[in-house]
Amino acid sequence: MKILIATEKPFAADAVQKIKQVIDNAGFDFILLEKYTNKSQLLDAVKDVNAIIIRSDIIDTEVLAAAKDLKIVVRAGAGYDNVDLEAATAHKVAVMNTPGQNSNAVAELAAGMMVSAARNFYDGSSGTELLGKKLGIHAYGNVGRNVARIAKGFGMDVYAFDAFFPADAIEKEGVKALASAEELYATCQYVSLHIPATAETKNSINYALLSKMPKKAVLINTARKEVINESELEKLMEDRPDFKYLTDITPGNDAVLKAKFPGRYFTTPKKMGAQTAEANNNAGIAAANQIVDFFKNGNTKFQVNK
Ligand code: 3PG
Repeated sequence: MKILIATEKPFAADAVQKIKQVIDNAGFDFILLEKYTNKSQLLDAVKDVNAIIIRSDIIDTEVLAAAKDLKIVVRAGAGYDNVDLEAATAHKVAVMNTPGQNSNAVAELAAGMMVSAARNFYDGSSGTELLGKKLGIHAYGNVGRNVARIAKGFGMDVYAFDAFFPADAIEKEGVKALASAEELYATCQYVSLHIPATAETKNSINYALLSKMPKKAVLINTARKEVINESELEKLMEDRPDFKYLTDITPGNDAVLKAKFPGRYFTTPKKMGAQTAEANNNAGIAAANQIVDFFKNGNTKFQVNK
């Protein structure tokens, strides 16, 4: 069996070694393609492999067609919107993710962004504190739950809305469950986004929703850029000089936002949420173990295209 790690944004070197160890121990071959700059390098690398471990790397019909012997793709992470699931199913390729493995890393980045916004990006001026402020968690999955845990430590008043997660389970964790996104945005000065990018959520964070937020609103996005209606966000920030936007996924209108809203807009240069040694180890090793378990025991527990 040939197992390829294809990561445009590499795992920490130590995590790569540990992933290799799992693959070596199973008696499989380990192939590494890191920091590739051209899709042709990926198309070339996938030609004769049986499994691929990826991060946000794009697996589309072209890649799947080139990977004639491919049986499984594991996205070392949570969101799998970068994989064409229909095409994978058509090619009889199983697709898995590794839920929860990098969620604390993403949550800590979201928390850091809240502090950064509250302290005016450390510009020397007098900021505010998070204690007692209302935080709305939009989607209460693995990352949202970790954000709630950290925010409670700050003494924030934590709310959540999740269309799929039962309200009583949210409430059991000391978080107030609200009945709609509208209610969440109308209630909370801080909102942290944790929705996946799907046909339903794309562009859903729009002017109408954001304009409901109270004064000195702060929107934190460590989820996906596609969920934001970027032109409407820009319009809102024009109309609301009190509104701050911090994101881990550079928007399409980054240059405009940077020029128009200094001191109110921040983006990381490259998605950094899951970029910790711990998250790389957790997600990478889980991905490797899932591949070994798939080939040796037929385990499809984490398959998302069943
Ligand atoms: C995820 O979906 O797991 C996160 O967005 C992390 O993505 P990354 O592996 O590209 O950093």
